[in-house]
Amino acid sequence: MIQERITETRALAAREFEAATTLAEAEAVKLTYLSRKGVVAELFKLMPQVDAAERPRSGQLLNELKTELEALAERRLAELRPKVSGPLVDVTLPGRKPFVGTYHPLTIVMREIIEIFRSMGFRVADGPEIELVRYNFDMLNTPPWHPSRDESDTMYLPNGFVVRTETSPVQIRVMESQQPPVRIISPGRVYRRDRPDATHSPMFHQVEGLYVDEGVTMADLKGTLLHFYRTLFGAQTQIRFRPHFFPFTEPSAEVDVTCNFCGGKGCRVCKQTGWLEMGGSGMVDPNVLAGVGYDTEKYTGYAFGLGIDRIAMRRFGLDNIRLLFESDVRFLRQFPAAC
Ligand code: DAH
Repeated sequence: MIQERITETRALAAREFEAATTLAEAEAVKLTYLSRKGVVAELFKLMPQVDAAERPRSGQLLNELKTELEALAERRLAELRPKVSGPLVDVTLPGRKPFVGTYHPLTIVMREIIEIFRSMGFRVADGPEIELVRYNFDMLNTPPWHPSRDESDTMYLPNGFVVRTETSPVQIRVMESQQPPVRIISPGRVYRRDRPDATHSPMFHQVEGLYVDEGVTMADLKGTLLHFYRTLFGAQTQIRFRPHFFPFTEPSAEVDVTCNFCGGKGCRVCKQTGWLEMGGSGMVDPNVLAGVGYDTEKYTGYAFGLGIDRIAMRRFGLDNIRLLFESDVRFLRQFPAAC
């Protein structure tokens, strides 16, 4: 009797699905009952032999059985599928390399500069980029007629402020806040109305240095700068002082180092001189020391202001300052990674 076989099949299948404990076992039970040659399909094949009077009822029961078993199979398979939250991870795939940024060449040389001076006992001092005219010029002994005060060179702001044109005003701020001995460097940004070209930018970087104590001489200045440049650029590096004028130092000198592009023979970068201009220096003018209340009979000092961008250009062999400010990653990626 087909109706009895339907009832038996329902009970049997339910038990077998229940007994399946793995996905593969449940799939096998599903095939046994519901595949094209499975138990249910075989029952359908018996339908023609069923009494005509009973056939509609049996057909209906058989259809119900099929739907029920399909639902049962789906439920059991769902129960046995591995439970994961989120996407499946294939741990055998090779890892993805995280993107790591590189240090900007200016950061690299800035850190080296700080380290060299720190090893000689200098500490790092900081000052604002928006500075008082009083600190940027007046207290640095800059006469009213000095060309560096021209509006064609300096960006003035209202109420007695400028965007600082040099890091020298940090000297004043430090000396106003403490008595000698003073030994500081101060790296930072400065701004001038310069027309941009291969070696000039309206924003650039300087590092200021100041040493005030009893008995400080020009020989200390020269020895310190020679040691600094040789540590940075190599032991064969030479420096030279050229007489110059700065309002805040007397005597004053511009500092040149041997050109590394041509090894001192003369080339386009050093304009055939064999030397590269690196900054200014000198013995702090007694007017400046007196202005901050230092005893000029007791104390002398030296100061210097060096171009960090020029140091970076010489250090890395760059012939255009713009490379430092264009943020072109093809250029920047060539420097060491930041980790
Ligand atoms: N402030 C000068 C400049 O920007 C550089 C300089 C020269 C700084 C001599 C100094 C110094 O401290 O003593 O051109």
